[in-house]
Amino acid sequence: MSEEAPRAQRGYESLYREWEEASWSATHIDFSIDARQWGAELSERQRASARWNYAMFLTGVETVARAVTGAVDAAPDWSSSVFLAAQAADEARQRVFLDRFLREVAEQGSDRGSTLRASDHVTWGFRQILDELDRTGDALRKRPQEREVLAQVVVLTHVLIEGVLALPGQYFIQRYVEGRGILPGLSSGLAHVARDEARHVAFGIRLLNQLTRSTRDCRDAVVEMLDRVVPWTVGVFIPPHLDHSYVECFDFTLKEIFAYGLQSLESRISSVGVDPEELYLLARDDRSLSYEERAGRLLTLVEAGVIGDDRREPQPNREALEILFDATARTIDIAVARSLGGPIEWKLTDGEPWHLVVVNDHAEAKPGTAGTPALTLELSSAEWAKIAVGRADPRRALLTRRLRVHGAWPAKTRLPKLFG
Ligand SMILES: [Fe+2]
Repeated sequence: MSEEAPRAQRGYESLYREWEEASWSATHIDFSIDARQWGAELSERQRASARWNYAMFLTGVETVARAVTGAVDAAPDWSSSVFLAAQAADEARQRVFLDRFLREVAEQGSDRGSTLRASDHVTWGFRQILDELDRTGDALRKRPQEREVLAQVVVLTHVLIEGVLALPGQYFIQRYVEGRGILPGLSSGLAHVARDEARHVAFGIRLLNQLTRSTRDCRDAVVEMLDRVVPWTVGVFIPPHLDHSYVECFDFTLKEIFAYGLQSLESRISSVGVDPEELYLLARDDRSLSYEERAGRLLTLVEAGVIGDDRREPQPNREALEILFDATARTIDIAVARSLGGPIEWKLTDGEPWHLVVVNDHAEAKPGTAGTPALTLELSSAEWAKIAVGRADPRRALLTRRLRVHGAWPAKTRLPKLFG
């Protein structure tokens, strides 16, 4: 047994004791004042926003509950298995609480089945993450001895969904109702939920550190999973029809939510020993900017249909293209770009050209033609946007002729190496 194990076990046992001491009743929360204030104190838009937010919350808790129950048998030792069984009970209680709030206050459905059906409106990004969790959770049920799969389930449930995504979802309405002293049943329930979630996240970070330090394969499995799901997190809080009023009616802005989410994402993944630079999407972001500025850039790409919902065809405007070319210049393989012996030009079939040059030890991307490019990429701005954020593979775009490449043969062969 590693040196970490006894210390980790003591941690799991004290987290379990906290669980015993922090018990609360979802059945006994009094929603009668909330039900009166729902119509009297909240606007129509606020009611729609709260329904949207808490319906996603309930769907998330249902999926997390399935994954946690499956993980009990896969836990590496007795004390972590006991904690996970206790957590499964927490998730059940949160389901009762959210189900009651949605039906008794938010007028969604008349029984458990109809409340859940009426609440099944999750965003595209959240749907991808929940489906991934269901798939990985099923794999763990079939192969409970596989530590890599356990590590993937824990990074999805405890770190990403509970540690990053649940927080802004709880916070943005809670701050408003607490500030105005309304919806006391919802407020008291959410305060309990927040304490439960903090405990679950602390457990998940501890277990994940134990797993990723035990084998290199576990760490690789965690990085691989994060790389796949982090682009989807951008789409979790995109309101219906990209209507900002869903958030602004509670005195928040989408930019604030994105900045908060980005900051907590980086801090959580760092706490399990993963450098944000290791992930495709975060490595392309300009991390010298403030979280607010980076959130603004993410929102520009969301509004242009580039990230957040892959069902949308990108329509990158000048600002979105600037962000994409800036990211390309920062992450392109400089040695390969320099070896081309001249600039790279993007001949966009539906817009002005761009080009990239290597200056000393870095690359610069600028609008306009390159003069005599060593390599020219001819494609639509939508196709380029998809390639730049990892939605499309440049090799596949070449095969399907959505991307045409002009230049000397040696330069053309280096194309796959340029974009990693
Ligand atoms: Fe939880």
